[in-house]
Amino acid sequence: DLSVSPNLSSCHASYGRTDLLVHCCPSESQGEEAIIDFQFPDPSTPLRVRRPAHHVDDDYIAKYKRALTIMKSLPDSDPRSFSRQANIHCLYCTGAYDQPHSNLSIDIHRKWFFFPWHRMVLHFHERIVGSLIGDDAFALPFWNWDSPDAMTLPGWYMNDPFFDDQRDFSHFPPKVCDLNFHEDNDIEPEEQIHLNLAFMYKQVVSGAKTPELFMGCPYKAGEGGVCDGPGTVELAPHNTMHKWVGSNFQPEREDMGAFYSAARDPVFYPHHANLDRVWEVWRGVHKFDLHNMDPDWLNSSFYFYDENSQLVRIYVRDVLNTTKLRSVYEEVDLPWLNMRP
Ligand code: C2O
Repeated sequence: DLSVSPNLSSCHASYGRTDLLVHCCPSESQGEEAIIDFQFPDPSTPLRVRRPAHHVDDDYIAKYKRALTIMKSLPDSDPRSFSRQANIHCLYCTGAYDQPHSNLSIDIHRKWFFFPWHRMVLHFHERIVGSLIGDDAFALPFWNWDSPDAMTLPGWYMNDPFFDDQRDFSHFPPKVCDLNFHEDNDIEPEEQIHLNLAFMYKQVVSGAKTPELFMGCPYKAGEGGVCDGPGTVELAPHNTMHKWVGSNFQPEREDMGAFYSAARDPVFYPHHANLDRVWEVWRGVHKFDLHNMDPDWLNSSFYFYDENSQLVRIYVRDVLNTTKLRSVYEEVDLPWLNMRP
């Protein structure tokens, strides 16, 4: 059994950048409290339908604003607080946990845990946000940056509590994003949109015909960082859009540009909801049944707090069916799907 799982009691300071030690561990000691295994939400609970951030209405924004304001007001001692939620990403993405019986750390990026782990984050975050306003149908929005009408930061993310001042001001709306961003360019918006669509086709369709290409290299217990092979979409648009949003005045373009700080920016969530949706699109295009993947992947597990501040152990195999998780995506056009060069 080479499935991966963190040793909760091993949480330690980690490097957010080579020159920056960060402390993202919860102050209470974990692993001593009761942990429960993940249970699927009751199939009779409402389906949470995630919609494009550029198309939600004012009522939705007001509702989410209320929830996020509450979340941001909770103390750090509360695992449902915005800062604790942000720290989950820091913990699992900077190697703050070790594997059981070893001092090899766990990092879920640049490997095949990328998609399932972030789906877990979204699942628990969404449940918490909804519960803060007593809405069990609340669904996170997705930033549909692969659609021409959504290739800018969603307008309402420019206002509190959705705003974050650690962003690149020159990329504020109406600036069209570069899904393959490396440095600023002078490309005209029309041309940039076209390049973005062609790039999506390459990353999801022509360049991602196997799980290895799309999901990245298979990482197993007992390996420490030797597996370093992000899949197509993780590399870009995922990494590139993190950098595109983040501040040009920060060494790693924090907040969004670095793992330890990315989830401090509320736009982290709609960005990841879109990536999660793209995972579903890829699975449909290439007709993969993820339940047939390597058992070491399926049986790997991670820990998250739910809306009752209960620590839950959830397995990769638990998150392969979005309907069972009761969160689905509104169908949107895929204008890049037939963009064969
Ligand atoms: Cu765990 Cu978008 O990063």
